[in-house]
Amino acid sequence: MSEQLDAYRVAQQPYYRPVADEVELFEAAYSVRMPMMLKGPTGCGKTRFVEHMAWKLNKPLITVACNEDMTASDLVGRFLLDANGTRWQDGPLATAARHGAICYLDEVVEARQDTTVVIHPLTDNRRVLPLEKKGELVKAHPDFQIVISYNPGYQSLMKDLKQSTKQRFGGLDFNYPEHAVEAEIVAHETGVSADVAGKLVGIAERARNLKGHGLDEGISTRMLIYAGSLIAQGVAAQAACRVALVRPITDDPDMRDALDAAVATFF
Ligand SMILES: Nc1ncnc2c1ncn2[C@@H]1O[C@H](COP(=O)(O)OP(=O)(O)OP(=O)(O)O)[C@@H](O)[C@H]1O
Ligand SMILES: [Mg+2]
Repeated sequence: MSEQLDAYRVAQQPYYRPVADEVELFEAAYSVRMPMMLKGPTGCGKTRFVEHMAWKLNKPLITVACNEDMTASDLVGRFLLDANGTRWQDGPLATAARHGAICYLDEVVEARQDTTVVIHPLTDNRRVLPLEKKGELVKAHPDFQIVISYNPGYQSLMKDLKQSTKQRFGGLDFNYPEHAVEAEIVAHETGVSADVAGKLVGIAERARNLKGHGLDEGISTRMLIYAGSLIAQGVAAQAACRVALVRPITDDPDMRDALDAAVATFF
């Protein structure tokens, strides 16, 4: 592994509790360097999964948070001015391709489509990245793989991936795990008891049933971990749930009352 990528090594094993066969499927996909798309709601474990897989495969991980102001140069690289004139600086995608990292483009639909297309020659059998401004064609390192995350449901017609982008990827679906597994994750991450973790998951399940009936999104595993962390700090359970679960997801007074009432049936 190249020393350019030392900073991107995942030093310690990130805790990841497999939910189905996603670890084996990802390993198989990596072995043929298939570009992968992780789909699922916010806070359900996509980022943790890719960190875990990078660690397991012993590959550095370069993460890029995509946004609509991002340009192709932000990914590929640009000439910078310094005291000695101009010098080329690889962007994160070029660094990953050149030296052999897993490049994780988080929330890729946020990027404009003219930005996203720069990944096309890397995600078909060419496996190259043209640096047009520099006049160089980077051949991807054999270890290089590209992974994107995608939150289905947030897309509008304007914000979606082109079919020509989607069809370059294999897809893995993520979702909130079933009750016992999610409680195990919450207990592990926060140190609360299995009983408290189970109650937090119960509250989340009630809220998830309200998705589309007044809530845009259910309570995520991430939110449960926040609530559990507050409880582990000694905050009373009802107050912790108000702060970490109820207030952030809705401003609607009736919905807040309904969720507070759900909390009260558990704690
Ligand atoms: N299967 C799992 N094993 C271990 N931890 C998990 C798992 N699923 C979720 N988590 C926990 O939930 C938290 C949130 O997950 P993560 O940050 O990976 O969400 P995400 O899907 O990337 O969300 P977003 O789309 O908002 O980026 C993690 O920090 C981790 O503590
Ligand atoms: Mg994430």
